[in-house]
Amino acid sequence: MTNNLTEQKVLEALRSVKDPDLKRDIVSLGFVKNIRIDGGRVCFDVELTTPACPVKDQLKEDCIRSVRNLEGVSGVEVNMKSDVKGRASFETAKVLPGVRNIIAVASGKGGVGKSTVAANLAVALVKAGAKVGLLDCDIYGPSMPLMFGLVGRKPEVTSDERIVPIEAHGVHVMSIGFLTSDKTPVIWRGPMVHQMIQQFLTRVAWGKLDYLILDLPPGTGDAQLTLTQTAELSGAVIVTTPQEVSLVDARKGLQMFEKVKVPVLGIIENMSYFSCPDCGKVFEIFGRGGARKISEELNVPLLGEIPIDPAIVETGDRGMPMVAARPDSLTAKVYGIVARAIAAQMSIANMKPDMAKAVDFQWKTKGA
Ligand SMILES: Nc1ncnc2c1ncn2[C@@H]1O[C@H](COP(=O)(O)OP(=O)(O)OP(=O)(O)O)[C@@H](O)[C@H]1O
Ligand SMILES: [Mg+2]
Repeated sequence: MTNNLTEQKVLEALRSVKDPDLKRDIVSLGFVKNIRIDGGRVCFDVELTTPACPVKDQLKEDCIRSVRNLEGVSGVEVNMKSDVKGRASFETAKVLPGVRNIIAVASGKGGVGKSTVAANLAVALVKAGAKVGLLDCDIYGPSMPLMFGLVGRKPEVTSDERIVPIEAHGVHVMSIGFLTSDKTPVIWRGPMVHQMIQQFLTRVAWGKLDYLILDLPPGTGDAQLTLTQTAELSGAVIVTTPQEVSLVDARKGLQMFEKVKVPVLGIIENMSYFSCPDCGKVFEIFGRGGARKISEELNVPLLGEIPIDPAIVETGDRGMPMVAARPDSLTAKVYGIVARAIAAQMSIANMKPDMAKAVDFQWKTKGA
């Protein structure tokens, strides 16, 4: 039996597979590579823009289904790969060359769980297969040494006097906490903070990273503004709790990033609800849904709702982010979903910079 199967026919079939986030077919997106046809067997690679693609499995299934339907096909093998896209200048950038995407985790208000979110997102992205750095930008109250079990550790310095981040749970971590003693309180003044941040961004040997997560200090003041401007951010996510006071602050955070033209990838609601492990009931202690409301009002994605979980505090204090300590827990799964949503939004923003920057923040709510 002759087989008329050609590369062209395979590509034609794959045009029916659409990336639901990028809203285009995977052939025109250039994701399909390396097609090999051997008799009735078809083998090809699908190269996504992030290993943390939330619809990776679905895309793979769709690919198999569409090619299997072709006449003469006896078997299909798809290799899912990824090559993280980043800011256009990532190889030659003055600040943080080699870092493809710089994503800030911010909040208007302190204590909403920003550092916990940043730590868990970083570990979740590593688990998905990405190279990830985490910069603790909180000069006054660094959290990452404790959260990653690195208290007392000192980073090495390269021969050209650059500081090497410390690796924990696969994440390359850098924090002012590694450079100061916890016994002496550090009194930082404005210009020193500025200088320190500059050093973090220019004198740390980050190497090649797909994502550098910045854990910003709380608020939307000068330190945050300096940081967002110096770091050439690729995107920002805002963490909020459901309470109104925190939501008002979250809106201020959104406004700050709009001013400096950084795409807001979305909002995360932390301490959204409590799911009782004994009775299975869900309690919305602080009133869930505030972040969803802002996301609808301001037309930015809701990236996820993270439950209140006492294990977060316990594992955090033991130097193990939840995603590393209890990967099978509901909370770790939610962090994973949020991490994939962020990766997807970052890919969208990189592909369609105009669309991301055009997010229209209309202040529909009085008093924001
Ligand atoms: N979903 C959650 N459930 C229970 N506890 C949480 C949750 N998220 C964070 N926490 C706890 O809340 C406290 C504050 O969290 P975290 O330090 O991450 O907040 P932050 O926003 O970074 O604070 P700061 O503004 O001081 O930097 C920590 O003790 C943390 O373990
Ligand atoms: Mg913090």
